[in-house]
Amino acid sequence: MKIDVLTLFPEMFTAVTESSILGKAGEKGLLDIRLTNIRDYSTDKHHKADDYPFGGGVGMVMLADPVFGAMEAVGARGKKAIYMSPRGKILDQPMIQELAGEEELVILCGHYEGVDQRILDYWNMEEVSIGDYVLTGGELPAMVLIDSVARMIPEVLKSSHAALDESIYSGLLEYPQYTKPRQYRDMHVPEVLVSGDHKKIHLWKFEQSLLLTKERRPDLFARFLKEEHSLSKEEK
Ligand code: ADE
Repeated sequence: MKIDVLTLFPEMFTAVTESSILGKAGEKGLLDIRLTNIRDYSTDKHHKADDYPFGGGVGMVMLADPVFGAMEAVGARGKKAIYMSPRGKILDQPMIQELAGEEELVILCGHYEGVDQRILDYWNMEEVSIGDYVLTGGELPAMVLIDSVARMIPEVLKSSHAALDESIYSGLLEYPQYTKPRQYRDMHVPEVLVSGDHKKIHLWKFEQSLLLTKERRPDLFARFLKEEHSLSKEEK
């Protein structure tokens, strides 16, 4: 998958270009992250990238022209283009799943009070938020999106099971995990996990997932029950 990132702060992206898992995905050719500095496309002699908003208001707005130039330079026409913004649709696992099916993505990171609306309209950009809180820029949200999408690309994770087995993906939160030693201080690993009885272990994990989800995320639990119910109806 090729991802073009348009940003005023390309140096922030070492977290996804050099981190162990995504760095390796890059080396293996599974993921190609290309960084474009929007400022390089400013035609202003001071490389200006923002200006005051028409109609007044606090903060600055990213200029249309440098962003337009950067979008053209990466060949954004016809590609899935995303603008990271607290106004957008909230990123969730189904959206991540869908994005992981794209061959190419273009991600624009906003700064200041946002970007000239004409950019979003012209390039038909989808606005995506990572949650109901406001960050100083779209770079961290873009990295969240890239990381979550990249790990769904087959072969990026060591075992494709690692992505499939877990929590939100199956609609439930993940069961508690334990590793060596069997006893730590006076705390023991649940007996069932060291019993060797795979059927029992599987059941325990499922039960724990159900209990945790019911307690912490009643919204997910209700959705899970509804989906199970419609599945079992289809089977009949
Ligand atoms: N930019 C600032 N805050 C954001 C958020 N919550 N999601 C996406 N982009 C953002």
